Amino acid sequence: MTILLIAAAFIAIAILVALVAMRAGPRKGPEPSGGNAGFAIFMVLIVVFGLGAPAYALVNNADTSPTEGKDGVELTTAQSEGRDMFIHNCATCHTLSDAGSTGMVGPNLDELRPPKALVVDAIAKGRARGMGQMPAGLVGGQDAENIGDYVSAVAGR
Ligand code: HEC
Repeated sequence: MTILLIAAAFIAIAILVALVAMRAGPRKGPEPSGGNAGFAIFMVLIVVFGLGAPAYALVNNADTSPTEGKDGVELTTAQSEGRDMFIHNCATCHTLSDAGSTGMVGPNLDELRPPKALVVDAIAKGRARGMGQMPAGLVGGQDAENIGDYVSAVAGR
């Protein structure tokens, strides 16, 4: 996102410079023949760095795929959304090494290795069996499914 903004800013600057140059051109009278070539090179440089560098960064980011969990488990889009939701809603209470969480209120999910159905059930109903309290309905519907997918894929890895 930031990269796109930077690229947009570069392009805006390039267009602005081009407009100013075009306006100023005729008033200055005849230019030395090298002037336009220099300007063209300048424009090419701006395009190369303004578009090339961000494009390169985007491609590079795609390589170190955001869908790969911390422990190298390949995640689907749903699972990687589940990972984000887990970090925001569950990490304070549960340890799960892939999400980098060390919560101690609830059971360590790396040790429990809950199947998806158990995760979804725990989210829907909450849990209160002594060790503490897990509120019901922290997240709903698709988010709960995604977290279940994610946790069952990475727990214990
Ligand atoms: C406020 C702390 C807290 C939060 C937040 C929390 N949990 Fe829990 N969770 C617990 C506690 C405490 C238990 C153990 C309940 C018990 O057995 O007494 C538990 C149990 C579980 C279990 C085991 C259920 C079972 O039947 O063995 C799973 C799976 C689980 N949580 C997943 C999640 C997920 C996924 C989230 C995020 C949506 C989450 N928890 C958020 C505190 C929390």
